[in-house]
Amino acid sequence: MKGGGLTYAVVTGTALILLTCALATLEEEQEVILQVTGNHHHHHLLGTAAEHQFNSFIQEYGKDYPTRAEYLHRLGIFAKNLLRAAEHQAMDPTAVHGVTQFSDLSQEEFEGMYMGVKGGAAAAPSENEEVVAAEMEVGDLPESFDWREKGAVSDVKMQGTCGSCWAFSTTGAIEGANFIATGKLLNLSEQQLVDCDHACDATEKKACDDGCSGGLMTNAYKYLIEAGGIEEEDAYPYTGKRGECKFKSEKVAVKVSNFITIPIEENQIAAYLVNHGPLAVGLNAVFMQTYIGGVSCPLICGKKWINHGVLLVGYGSRGYSILRFKNKPYWIIKNSWGKRWGEKGYYRLCRGHGMCGINTMVSAVMTKAS
Ligand SMILES: *[C@@H]1O[C@H](CO)[C@@H](O)[C@H](O)[C@H]1NC(C)=O
Repeated sequence: MKGGGLTYAVVTGTALILLTCALATLEEEQEVILQVTGNHHHHHLLGTAAEHQFNSFIQEYGKDYPTRAEYLHRLGIFAKNLLRAAEHQAMDPTAVHGVTQFSDLSQEEFEGMYMGVKGGAAAAPSENEEVVAAEMEVGDLPESFDWREKGAVSDVKMQGTCGSCWAFSTTGAIEGANFIATGKLLNLSEQQLVDCDHACDATEKKACDDGCSGGLMTNAYKYLIEAGGIEEEDAYPYTGKRGECKFKSEKVAVKVSNFITIPIEENQIAAYLVNHGPLAVGLNAVFMQTYIGGVSCPLICGKKWINHGVLLVGYGSRGYSILRFKNKPYWIIKNSWGKRWGEKGYYRLCRGHGMCGINTMVSAVMTKAS
């Protein structure tokens, strides 16, 4: 691994809120949804195109609603989500938005099931935080780059109904760093982090890792440095629920020695990605619940509401877009909502605009053989 110019200093204080994996709601969306939910019976939807699509959705995802009332309730939510997807489509024309496996969940349910309830209006990392990792040379970066092709990325995982995205982002970064250091790709244990990690941010003392209710990747690295390392997935399997800590130091597979946060400049992020490995990142996931594919490049996507932790694994240079940003470059992002979501579990987001705050919470981790 090239590490010559890197400052391997622990830099903290840029992460001010927990990632609850939550989707922020646009205010305009709320209004539309309120109008639609005015009718609680949803009989007006029977026999419509929306019900037809709902039935295809039930087939495709093997859904089963025990009662007629539940069917009608879910149909109502599904119809709202169709509207929401159409809004997202209008605001994000270079991606495809539509029905996903989450289309029968309301915004509140999605937040309550897939994420914790923490978070809220977040303060963005302030501009004058202490200096992060040293600047890297960006002149000779490849046009496109993908750590998946090099074998540094494990299969897409599924966090389930637990706000543990931050744990998946953390394991992804460590899996990559360990692969680059040893040539071996291991699946590492998110459950160890969900059960055992209560580390808090150095400056924001209330931002502590909290199982299925949210956390931060930088806190998780700190926990792992202190705990002595992380077990493999097989040794400490994922349950999707917070349980008692069963960590055993003799089962450690990878040790974490240090971590750095990366400057917000996206060429720097690309340089660290290429030279260091997959990077843990936070972003605003508002467009992700309805995302099906393409390069997401929304007209508006709040940069201050960072609520979801994911893994940056590569970038491309030829994301075609009809209306804006012709041949706009994009980031390739591994999510933890299973392979049926998005592009086989991946999200592409346009690069170079700090889109959805993708550049504001980026970290790299260093491992040592155990
Ligand atoms: C990781 O786990 C997944 C799912 O169990 C499996 O398909 C994959 O082969 C594993 N990868 C490695 C590198 O062990």
